[in-house]
Amino acid sequence: MKKQETEDLMDWENISSGHIHNFKETAETMFAPVYNVLARQVVEDYKITGGSCVDIGAGTGGLACEIAKISNLTVYALDINHEMVEIINEKIQKEGLKRRVIPTIGDVHELPFGSNFADLIVSRGSFLFWKDKRKAFLEIHRVLKTGGVGFIGGGFGRDKEIREKAMMWGEETFKKANRGVSFHEHLKNKHDELTEILKDMGGFNIIHDESGLWVEIRK
Ligand SMILES: C[S@@+](CC[C@H](N)C(=O)[O-])C[C@H]1O[C@@H](n2cnc3c(N)ncnc32)[C@H](O)[C@@H]1O
Repeated sequence: MKKQETEDLMDWENISSGHIHNFKETAETMFAPVYNVLARQVVEDYKITGGSCVDIGAGTGGLACEIAKISNLTVYALDINHEMVEIINEKIQKEGLKRRVIPTIGDVHELPFGSNFADLIVSRGSFLFWKDKRKAFLEIHRVLKTGGVGFIGGGFGRDKEIREKAMMWGEETFKKANRGVSFHEHLKNKHDELTEILKDMGGFNIIHDESGLWVEIRK
């Protein structure tokens, strides 16, 4: 596969405040309805409604908060970027989700949780940026409880109308940031990359459907 110079190379840990601000704006407008759709998809498909959940690369906390609202899960909203974690904290206060969503600074390559900690691990739109994806997936597997589920990937969920609106924004912005590579093309490349990374790892299953590209992990 041809190595692309895409926004995958972004260093989110040290990204500018301006970039964070732009992302927050998008997350609170164009992407806002997507988080509820995805939260429902995960909670309803896997029927995990209690215990601990970790959202890795939680960004501004959209998915983490929606999961907390529709379940009894305690959600650890983890991100490598300090400013993002501050934004998550503000959102938690505003939405009355204190003690239900726990803002957490951390790196997927070295998660600040013990082994067999989480019933559910989710992550949306973050794996593209992980520097060592194999290490990251092994780390997620370590933190997952036996019987738990991981759902890691990218996409806009199953609701056609919401997905198409988010995609419209996604396509334009994505092409600009990725030197003309379309979102679909990008996901296809990522599918191939994930297949290669996960080929000898048991319990990892790639799902590529209308809701996006996801790695389902069962332990
Ligand atoms: C495109 S944003 C997606 C945010 C959020 N999940 C969403 O769907 O709105 C990617 C996020 O992954 C985080 N991230 C990138 N590399 C990470 C790493 N190694 N460990 C934890 N978080 C990371 C970034 O700081 C950023 O908040």
